[in-house]
Amino acid sequence: MTTPLVKNISKLSAFNFQQWIAEHEHLLKPPVNNKLIWEDADLMVTVVGGPNQRYDYHDDPVEEFFYQMKGNAFLRIMTESGPQELHLQEGDIFLLPPHVRHSPQRPEEGSICLVIEPKRAEGELDAFEWYCQSCNHLVHRAEVQLQNIATDLAPLFKTFKADDKLRTCGNCGEIHPA
Ligand SMILES: [Fe+2]
Repeated sequence: MTTPLVKNISKLSAFNFQQWIAEHEHLLKPPVNNKLIWEDADLMVTVVGGPNQRYDYHDDPVEEFFYQMKGNAFLRIMTESGPQELHLQEGDIFLLPPHVRHSPQRPEEGSICLVIEPKRAEGELDAFEWYCQSCNHLVHRAEVQLQNIATDLAPLFKTFKADDKLRTCGNCGEIHPA
């Protein structure tokens, strides 16, 4: 069965992206640093600002598209031989394959990046990982069925931060700063 045509276009509207960014500028700074444009869409389109630095690595089950619109940033990527930096310079676009462990670093104040990723299917889990700062051994991995990008992550980070045992490297004993 084909889906019927829309009745009219009264519920559809385009808007100016630069104007949207200007209106949400206050959310693109710490402590929030990001804003999802359409809350209930299947495509998650997020604008991410700087400055922001983080220790966790994201294991995303789906692709992520990046467009570094303003300023420069980089993805720290965990490889078999340790972390490497993939630079996103102003104007760059990049498509990150699923499951590449990445930790976005946005050192520049006022930097703006557009990130687009599909909604996860049921059973497609995201994970967040922390690696030892001293020996690069995996210290902790937390999996989650991501439904709300704004609220699902904070509890995972809180749990890791609060527990010295979770933050202790099984290889060298170093405690992760979290
Ligand atoms: Fe270690």
